[in-house]
Amino acid sequence: MRMVDIISKKRDGNSLSKAEIDFFIEGYTKGDIPDYQASALLMAIYFEDMNDEERQNLTLAMVNSGETIDLSAISGIKVDKHSTGGVGDTTTLVLAPLVAALGVPVAKMSGRGLGHTGGTIDKLESVEGFHVELSQKDFIELVNRDKVAVIGQSGNLTPADKKLYALRDVTGTVDSIPLIASSIMSKKIAAGADAICLDVKTGAGAFMKTEEDAEELARAMVRIGNGVQRNTMAVISDMSQPLGFAVGNALEVKEAIDTLRGNGPEDLTELVLVLGSQMVVLAGQAADLAEARAKLEAVIASGEALAKFKVFLENQGGDASVVDDPSKLPQARYEIDVKAKSSGFVSEIIADEIGVAAMLLGAGRATKEDQIDLGVGLLLRRKIGDRVEAGETLVTIFSNREDVTEVKAKIYASIQIAEQASAPKLVHKIITE
Ligand code: URA
Ligand code: CA
Repeated sequence: MRMVDIISKKRDGNSLSKAEIDFFIEGYTKGDIPDYQASALLMAIYFEDMNDEERQNLTLAMVNSGETIDLSAISGIKVDKHSTGGVGDTTTLVLAPLVAALGVPVAKMSGRGLGHTGGTIDKLESVEGFHVELSQKDFIELVNRDKVAVIGQSGNLTPADKKLYALRDVTGTVDSIPLIASSIMSKKIAAGADAICLDVKTGAGAFMKTEEDAEELARAMVRIGNGVQRNTMAVISDMSQPLGFAVGNALEVKEAIDTLRGNGPEDLTELVLVLGSQMVVLAGQAADLAEARAKLEAVIASGEALAKFKVFLENQGGDASVVDDPSKLPQARYEIDVKAKSSGFVSEIIADEIGVAAMLLGAGRATKEDQIDLGVGLLLRRKIGDRVEAGETLVTIFSNREDVTEVKAKIYASIQIAEQASAPKLVHKIITE
């Protein structure tokens, strides 16, 4: 087989066989196929697309390019959840203990954040003592016993994806549905998921800005998952504004505790119930989404979900007393209110700009080496559609620096007030096939 023939075949609009896709992925991972040939094929895929079978084969080839995590020692159907990335997205912190309280095994491998979207591990580390350095054996034992554990990313998972993603970044081939869908799905499958629940964000703060693009990506991923025997469902959800009120590590842990207690922000609570219902159905613990939702609401009301969060924190060295006393979480030295300059209705809160404002305070990393300041961040006091009078607080800044001029300017630039505005729809669509 010659790489040049594979490139020409795709350039001419033909579909590639499994053997050709395997040849490309294996050869490129090993370094036998040079970047210039891989770039040419990526560009051909960008223009000529891939059919369902090619997408599935590409996904599996990337899974097989490196190590995979074997979760077969954990009983039950292991459901993983993936979000395409949001600002102040506290869902994982709530979902993990919530679905675990219903007996759904959550064996989560998670990462640290880079840029303005925070990582789940960073958020959890605002709880004193909490750590994710577990042996594979302890990880599996914890999930079998208490149904939930989080471990840091380890091993050499999907090296083909790492290499290809870096190449796509510099060759104008990131925005390709077959390439994005196979990239995301290969990582979930390599991490051991039997079933996958996807939260595809749409709106100004999302990777997919329009609902049409988000839906196309969601359908592509659901078809890949179901095609390779991993039951997959997706939700298209709004990211035109940050989710919930809190953006920042300790602030989001507090928000997660409130939500597990049944006192969380409306949008975060709703999204958690929608995603959680899918996870419970995928795990075979409810016949349909309505039954799953009722079960989730019941464990919130009974306090079992919150109790599970305490067990989860304790199991991994964390001080679970923060659940009853969130003032034990890292606190910022200064609280500074950002006030509305005019009266009206909030019509825009650009999520990624709010994320950048939180990052400027130290809540996120601009580079991998940056240290995170766990106590800082932002609390939105108004969301899109809310009434505000001039002089009332829009956002509270939690900072360890007294001078927040730059952060304030970012916040003002990202929030618009108009004569009329209504709240955006949170859940746009549910995709099950
Ligand atoms: N996120 C991924 O993991 N892969 C892509 O290709 C795009 C976004
Ligand atoms: Ca939030």
